[in-house]
Amino acid sequence: MFVGSISEDLKYEKRVAITPDIIKKYKSLGLEINITKNYATHLGISDHEYETVGANIYSNTDEVISKSKVLIQMKLPNENNLDKLRKDQILIGVLDPYSNKNKLAEIISKDIKCFSLELLPRITRAQSMDILSSQANLAGYKAVVDSFAYFKKAIPMMMTAAGTISAAKVLIVGAGVAGLQAIATAKRMGAIVFATDVRLASKEQVESLGGKFLVVESSESLETEGGYAKEVSADFKKKQEELLKETLKKIDIVICTALIPGKKAPIIIKKDMIDVMQSSSVIYDLAASQGGNSELTKVNELVDYNGVKIMGDANILNKLPVSASNLYAKNIFNFLCNLFDKEKKNFFLNLEDEIINKTMVK
Ligand code: NAI
Repeated sequence: MFVGSISEDLKYEKRVAITPDIIKKYKSLGLEINITKNYATHLGISDHEYETVGANIYSNTDEVISKSKVLIQMKLPNENNLDKLRKDQILIGVLDPYSNKNKLAEIISKDIKCFSLELLPRITRAQSMDILSSQANLAGYKAVVDSFAYFKKAIPMMMTAAGTISAAKVLIVGAGVAGLQAIATAKRMGAIVFATDVRLASKEQVESLGGKFLVVESSESLETEGGYAKEVSADFKKKQEELLKETLKKIDIVICTALIPGKKAPIIIKKDMIDVMQSSSVIYDLAASQGGNSELTKVNELVDYNGVKIMGDANILNKLPVSASNLYAKNIFNFLCNLFDKEKKNFFLNLEDEIINKTMVK
């Protein structure tokens, strides 16, 4: 039984779904690995390293696709490669089912089973497969490191004979996985950290990391049963805006992470709020690819608005692709283990299993 993976389009995606370290785990299940030539050379991982642990390398992408029962990827392959998939093959990745609805419907109509890991339920059993958490955690860390690099002042408080430097003040908007890692990273570097979220449940987590939680008073419950944020009302938005406009006057760095699954990111930091910020402040918008939490964000551009630097990458994980690939490869292996019947040595798509059912694109 063969599991394959073809090179991603490196212009958009530097992460890979199979790392050399994970191959022995696939082999222990009796699965063989097929990859394309130069699969991860851009990450400094040679074909030789893959060959040493027993991967089969093909110079022809078509061969990898035709010889593999399961194709595991990061992003949805291009149409040319999708056309090569045939009945009963399985495609697994972060397929963005909201944006790729039509393309996925076409593949599914050919009896190809597609699993998209951003649909994974947030249950305990699925934690080791949770790509949203593993990737968001790294994204939160990297957003802090990058925004601090653009900030022209020191981060921690320093008392020296020449005078005192005050600690930088950081605001984290959205205290989910990325936001909590951003709080932890900023605290470790000596910043004073504030955070806000629509889910009051996150208050305790923020405080346990040493952050100060900014509460927007509201009588609405803004959390879904699955633990995600709901879209907020106009009244909540107004209160949030008032609170943030006041807070932003003293904030040096803002890290935006607020997302609503399947929807455009909410605009939280409006232009008139940026007007009150000190020039030399920095906004890092992790929601950039979903439209951005700041009104002035431009994807992959460094915007300078009256001295305030606003940035947001389409894919910040391309800036630490080795760490991101290592975690992703483990997540996807754990997911695949759950699909694999070890006794029958075959894949068994048990739709009564919540993990399998919810991740299958229908
Ligand atoms: P996310 O990436 O969808 O959103 C990031 C954060 O932005 C969330 O905390 C959300 O509440 C917040 N947000 C959305 N709209 C906002 C607004 N208008 N203003 C301020 N904040 C706003 O969320 P993520 O990081 O995926 O986490 C979602 C939930 O899943 C959390 O409750 C988290 O604790 C839970 N979770 C559970 C896991 C499990 O295995 N049990 C694993 C990981 C996360």
